[in-house]
Amino acid sequence: MKTILLIGIGPGDPDALTLAAVKAIRRTDVFFFLEKEGDGKDSLIRFRREILAEHAGDRSYRIATGASPRRDRASADYQGAVEDWRHRRTQVIADLIDANMKDGETGAFLLWGDPALYDGTMQNLHDLIAKGRDDIAFEVIPGITCIQALTAKHRIPLNRVGEEIVITTGRQIETGDPAAVHNSVVMLDSRDAFMRLRDQPDMDIFWGGDVGSPDEILIAGPLDGTADRIAETIKTQRARKGWVMDTYILRRRQRAKGSSRTDGDG
Ligand SMILES: C[S@@+](CC[C@H](N)C(=O)[O-])C[C@H]1O[C@@H](n2cnc3c(N)ncnc32)[C@H](O)[C@@H]1O
Repeated sequence: MKTILLIGIGPGDPDALTLAAVKAIRRTDVFFFLEKEGDGKDSLIRFRREILAEHAGDRSYRIATGASPRRDRASADYQGAVEDWRHRRTQVIADLIDANMKDGETGAFLLWGDPALYDGTMQNLHDLIAKGRDDIAFEVIPGITCIQALTAKHRIPLNRVGEEIVITTGRQIETGDPAAVHNSVVMLDSRDAFMRLRDQPDMDIFWGGDVGSPDEILIAGPLDGTADRIAETIKTQRARKGWVMDTYILRRRQRAKGSSRTDGDG
């Protein structure tokens, strides 16, 4: 049997690594790095290498790298393009395992934040096993998500009592009904989707760029008064270092109808 560990490493703060992640790192024979093209890949890989240098201890380990396939972003068929990308990525992972692991060994992926939040690797491994790879087993080691880092830095609870909290993407905010947004975490936004909601009444934003890293920037306030500043900050960071990873919460001061402070979950 080959054991694969999906280790959540937190959102870019070396101190956000859990003790379980460190213990998992110390039992790994080979680490798989899927290298993405584009701005920011070098610093993401450097962060993983620094974690290994600090926590792997004296035992020897190997690093095997593979090229993460690119998704066809120009395709009009979004779901189809994602499916195609998922299958190609599963194949890259299978090839890496076959070329670099012996029976009885442990391999690991160091996954940004938590493996369960907007990360396809867990699905890739389920797909592999479903295709008949009964020589592979995997374990998930949870990590601190960018959402936890954001709420901690802004010192706000994620949920309000009795009200739902929605986790969504910039793409959904760009195309969905603005009136339906009450308390939403927005991730994977490459086009300043918050700008579309700036005229919504009573809306606050809690924004964080590269939270937990030395480049962290936090901005919070009424959306109509801060949206321009956030957009300008994103532009400046992109011009300075090529990329920025941001997450934000859009929250109306008026709670969603039906929510209350006294319904028992607080
Ligand atoms: C592919 S998802 C991975 C999320 C990750 N699995 C997690 O648990 O945080 C990448 C998105 O996470 C968010 N993100 C990741 N790290 C971040 C950070 N340090 N600060 C702000 N947002 C971050 C951004 O919205 C980015 O587009």
